[in-house]
Amino acid sequence: MQALILAGGEGTRLRPLTSSVPKPVVPLVDRPFIVFMIDWLRSHGVDDVIMSCGHLADGVRNVLGDGSGVGVRLRYVEEPKPLGTGGALKFAEEWLDDRFLMLNGDVLTDIDLTAQIAAHEQTGARATLALYPVEDPSAYGLVRLEADDAVREFLEKPAPDQIDTNNVNAGAYVLDKSVLDLLVHGEKASIERDVFPRLVGDGLYGHVLDGYWMDIGTPQRYLEATFDILEGNVRTEVADRLGTSYVCVEDEVFNEGRIVPAALVEAGCRIGKGARIGGRAVLERDVVVGEGTIIEQAVVMAGAQIGAHCHLNGCVVGPGVKIGDHCVIDDLAVVGADVSLGDGNTVSRGARLFPGISLPERALLF
Ligand code: GDD
Ligand code: MG
Repeated sequence: MQALILAGGEGTRLRPLTSSVPKPVVPLVDRPFIVFMIDWLRSHGVDDVIMSCGHLADGVRNVLGDGSGVGVRLRYVEEPKPLGTGGALKFAEEWLDDRFLMLNGDVLTDIDLTAQIAAHEQTGARATLALYPVEDPSAYGLVRLEADDAVREFLEKPAPDQIDTNNVNAGAYVLDKSVLDLLVHGEKASIERDVFPRLVGDGLYGHVLDGYWMDIGTPQRYLEATFDILEGNVRTEVADRLGTSYVCVEDEVFNEGRIVPAALVEAGCRIGKGARIGGRAVLERDVVVGEGTIIEQAVVMAGAQIGAHCHLNGCVVGPGVKIGDHCVIDDLAVVGADVSLGDGNTVSRGARLFPGISLPERALLF
């Protein structure tokens, strides 16, 4: 089976993590995010993946190459300019089989694609959308269904007064190639706004699935997905390999503090006296943590150095960052690669520090 993965968005809501690397290869629990997606696709019989890239395409190619390391044939289609989700689909036309899967490239999920493909065949649909119930559909595509699972209405980013179902578009479609007849080559188009509404009554079906599903495209959801992988709430090869609820690589870790599950601490990390890592924390390779520092519900990427007596909670710290002593980083703050912070700074309330910024002692208190 063939899959087209859309990976050309700019990932603006995840900046600065996506300032220098594209969203698909932002590390999630220390693997390029897209590897989780490819594992899941492979487990449902996908062996041929086409990656639709735009923004920072080389960043994806450099990490995944021809796919041999992740067990699929992997090819890349590069748009000269962003064509939107529909335009990107049309742009890949010559590579596509008569029936294929199309995926949004920023979703962590273990939903049953095999069942979705079976439903597609049973109804004779042209397009079958995976649907997933969420509490607040406003950030997604809302999908109203008829009793026979035909789609009655598709509403992208519904207004509050339009929300009358919890089922949203999970960004996983089975498509027949005839759907591409609705698109014009080289023209910008949105599959959600320009194609699906036109397919209503003409072969558009939905299939509600359970299991785990999360769009990782904001810092909050990125962190939630991280914790869910650590705690085994989503089926992943990481959990299969290392066991659920406690994932900790202590080999080659120099630890004078305490590691509280669920946590992943990679090789080369050094944890100072009286420090606490976890629960729900990821330290990628070669992270240094000073004495008495607490890191909980947080991700610290490779090679970062955190000073003594800091408190990191609910934040993401990029690779190569240097943080002085007595700093507080919390409340969905995201610190970009190679930022340098002097002692006594507080970075909080969703603040984003862009790559390479350098700040003296006590410069920030937000
Ligand atoms: N190649 C290419 N070109 N890919 C693109 C482009 C483009 O111009 N624009 C966006 N993409 C990719 C993104 O990289 C992402 O993987 C996917 O298309 C969806 O774009 P997002 O920007 O993440 O959309 P969203 O999260 O607001 O909404 C979409 O996903 C929701 C589920 O997560 C919609 O499909 C919603 O209907 C859906 O509910
Ligand atoms: Mg998204």
